[in-house]
Amino acid sequence: MIHTSDEMGKITAACEAMKQHIKEKPVLMIVLGSGLGQLADTVSDAISVPYSEISGFPDVTVPGHVGRLVFGRWEQLPVVVMQGRFHYYEGHQMADVVRPIRVMRRLGVERLLLTNAAGGLDEDMKPGQLMLISDHLGFNCEPPLRGENLDTFGPRFADQSQVYDRDWRNQAKQCAEKNGIPVREGIYCYSKGPQFETPAEIRALRVLGANAVGMSTVPEAIVASHAGMKVMGISCITNMAAGILDQPLSHDEVMEVGAQAADRTIALLSSIVNALH
Ligand code: HPA
Repeated sequence: MIHTSDEMGKITAACEAMKQHIKEKPVLMIVLGSGLGQLADTVSDAISVPYSEISGFPDVTVPGHVGRLVFGRWEQLPVVVMQGRFHYYEGHQMADVVRPIRVMRRLGVERLLLTNAAGGLDEDMKPGQLMLISDHLGFNCEPPLRGENLDTFGPRFADQSQVYDRDWRNQAKQCAEKNGIPVREGIYCYSKGPQFETPAEIRALRVLGANAVGMSTVPEAIVASHAGMKVMGISCITNMAAGILDQPLSHDEVMEVGAQAADRTIALLSSIVNALH
């Protein structure tokens, strides 16, 4: 499907639908990955909007991903939390996957904090470990900017030399240190999914410089950086990538480890958000 100005129409319609719910313009959008849904319950003055009520938002199909936007204040900052994201592997068009980001950008949101569950490629990684994404390998990803360029957001040929904002990441590193939360930095490689990777693919990705692999985040980060947003990505390493351990991978494991690490992840997120005041 070629994106046309029809896409702009869908974005505008969703914006209009959102405006009635927004009491205070959010400055930050937080996208919750697998196992982090509980954060949305701690938003104060919360107004929840199920995706089913937003024109242009498809349904969520993945266990562990509730489908709603939560507007309110988190750590005293006006935020919008996306509880449940859209993945390409669910069968959605790329335009659908990234539309929520553009809708929020159009509503004035300046920063995007993406979280995800990912497989770890470095042998010294431990499940539950947090990784700040410094850059990504996205050439595996159906390009979300393909088709007519939406000039209101950004240029045809988007610079990608700093998709993940370096200053913000440095601030996050200080937050982690202050709170005694171990984090490392690394390169996240996009995998279309839904099948996990093969051991041979993981060996190849390691040669290419990847430290973690997952099935989300990159499309959203590309579109957000195109639109001039400051982007941060945080991976929770829920499992060692295929072939590193002599055991099969499963979504249950991803959910379980993600949930076990949730308290630490949320503590880091809250410190990062506090530092934005
Ligand atoms: N591969 C791809 N996506 C993932 C993984 C993985 O090993 N773990 C969690 N999401």
